[in-house]
Amino acid sequence: MNSLTNKNVLLGVSGSIAAYKSPDIVRRLQDLGAEVRVVLTAGGAEFVSERSLQAVSKNKVNNNLWDKEAELSMGHIELAKWADAIVIAPASANTIAKLCHGKADDLLTTLILATTAKVLIAPAMNQQMYGSMATQDNLKILESRGMVIAKPEFGVQACGDIGEGRLAEPTSIAAQTANLFQNTQLSGKNVMITLGATIEAIDPVRFISNHSSGKMGMALATACVEAGATVNLVIGAISVAVESRAESVFVTNADEMLKAVNANISKQDIFISCAAVADYRPASIAKNKIKKDRETLSIDLVKNPDILSNVCQLKDKPICIGFAAETENLLENAQNKLKNKGCDAIILNDVSNAKIGLKSDRNEVFFITKKVCEKIEINSKIIIAQKLVIKISETLI
Ligand SMILES: Cc1cc2nc3c(=O)[nH]c(=O)nc-3n(C[C@H](O)[C@H](O)[C@H](O)COP(=O)(O)O)c2cc1C
Repeated sequence: MNSLTNKNVLLGVSGSIAAYKSPDIVRRLQDLGAEVRVVLTAGGAEFVSERSLQAVSKNKVNNNLWDKEAELSMGHIELAKWADAIVIAPASANTIAKLCHGKADDLLTTLILATTAKVLIAPAMNQQMYGSMATQDNLKILESRGMVIAKPEFGVQACGDIGEGRLAEPTSIAAQTANLFQNTQLSGKNVMITLGATIEAIDPVRFISNHSSGKMGMALATACVEAGATVNLVIGAISVAVESRAESVFVTNADEMLKAVNANISKQDIFISCAAVADYRPASIAKNKIKKDRETLSIDLVKNPDILSNVCQLKDKPICIGFAAETENLLENAQNKLKNKGCDAIILNDVSNAKIGLKSDRNEVFFITKKVCEKIEINSKIIIAQKLVIKISETLI
């Protein structure tokens, strides 16, 4: 089952009698991991209460294009940008017709014009209304513009008619929403990603590590899964939820990470080294807790294995992609890393900028190969990861 983890879904509820099912749709979208906000049309509000939708979504329900407070900050544009997907369920014949003509006379239709999000339409109406040439033509036009239609079901209707027009089941609408994010860019590929920080012990209670959160690596894991890849993760210390659709191995230090990578690398088509591996580790680990009885203390460090270089030197090496977290001479250092390690691409990020990089939810990167050097502008790590997967599939596969 595809997931909606980290996805913002805007549910538009319009004036169909099936609107009473919309709180259940909110729940089913949440079950798949989505953050859900609701826009209710005036017609929709005749069939379901704003209060119910607010309670289940745990967010204010938006129902007014002319809301003075929301529009202080251009609320309709903000919502249009917030959404990764807009689901109109139920979609009335009237709302479908308005979308078709690009009308923008309420919040929902205005949002649709202002968004770049994926759109799913779940029609629900009397079978005669659904089968009418106008509605059928309108749906074809919306489909030709890239909107996805969640086909209604056949059955007994609220008015007593029997026919096609019953709203698709809420679980099916949620599943079809998750499918919007599925693509085939990495279909059939095995991808291994290392992520998180390594922890190098000094004594039984102390260690050397770094600030890596694993957020960028986990976002890449999700993007690769959604692009159809089978994903293997080798995970150090992280502060982010694990992508449950990937196979995961958990490690502590660089040596363990190298062993876990080597154990499975022969099956991989792509290797992405996103982990912040400590360059050095203590030469020896003190058996007992080091006492505070000296004024100064030195710890001898020895070099850790370079996992990315190791993989790059394999005879049947997979496509190798490394991360360069730099603070100065960014492009120059990244180009050198690409050459010296012999990898196929480097993803460069400037970790001196607190707004992006290590612990942040946002990032801005350069995707660098021998032939290309492209900037991916500042965005959430989720979006950056999706864009990187497109770059990887376009330039390296
Ligand atoms: C009792 C009742 C039930 C209705 N059920 C539906 C319906 O299931 N599907 C539909 O497309 N329209 C239905 N309508 C008509 C819409 O509510 C009407 O076209 C309204 O203008 C839609 O507004 P909206 O698209 O802005 O939400 C119904 C109207 C009434 C009075």
